[in-house]
Amino acid sequence: MRIVLLGAPGSGKGTQGQLLSEKHGIPRISTGDSLRSEIALGTPLGLKAQGFVGVGSLVPDDLILEMMEVRLRQADTAVGFILDGIPRSIPQAKGLETILKNRGGALDAAVKLDLAKKVLIDRLTSRWVCPGCTAVYNMITSPPRVAGICDRCGGPLAQREDDSLATVRRRLNVYEMTTAPLIDYYDARGLLVIVDGEGTVAGVAARIERSLEERRKRN
Ligand code: AP5
Ligand code: MG
Repeated sequence: MRIVLLGAPGSGKGTQGQLLSEKHGIPRISTGDSLRSEIALGTPLGLKAQGFVGVGSLVPDDLILEMMEVRLRQADTAVGFILDGIPRSIPQAKGLETILKNRGGALDAAVKLDLAKKVLIDRLTSRWVCPGCTAVYNMITSPPRVAGICDRCGGPLAQREDDSLATVRRRLNVYEMTTAPLIDYYDARGLLVIVDGEGTVAGVAARIERSLEERRKRN
């Protein structure tokens, strides 16, 4: 299974990507998580990226594609992968296609999670994350067992710098301008699968699995 998760900020790409990864035994590759880790480590890529990520702008395409080329060369991706947060622009989609073609593969599907803007804003402004192990919580729908502490690794939770209301609005605008055109791009290539992203985490996961299964049977 080689899929891309498309969807606005807060649509559940990370949450659903993690479930798909566990269920199918394939890696979830999140450009957002990778960039945050590079920034925390102060690497040359992190230093270049931090000014973009902090304010909710996109990191330049060439830096993202270089990072993906290296990641997709790793052996664990041979059995498949779930891409969370890439591509985010038409040049990234084309670059990704080239990277995959050079290793003799192509995408199976692009899953678009569909949600109302109001739900996205509510989800992002109530999200808390574990900077240590990248676990994601939501103070309203999925709080940790002990307030402020990660269930998984015991580390302290924090809010993402880009989850302030003003930056969330900016990220949603960037998504509409630069990333949403990928919906038509993948539709034209027969890869688009649209899934209702509202409702419970388990409900959305079941809809994704059903849609992918129907697609497999059709093709
Ligand atoms: P990234 O980290 O990818 O952020 P994003 O796309 O804005 O998406 P989010 O991580 O905010 O949301 P999500 O869809 O993963 O939702 P989640 O599952 O957490 O990118 C961050 C930045 O990095 C970008 O702004 C950019 O600067 C840079 N970047 C990254 N990739 C790039 C690229 N390719 N090119 C250029 N720049 C790039 O869920 C959200 C919340 O909702 C959580 O609290 C969760 O618990 C909750 N939730 C999830 N599902 C449900 C549900 N069904 N019901 C109730 N609550 C739910
Ligand atoms: Mg995410």
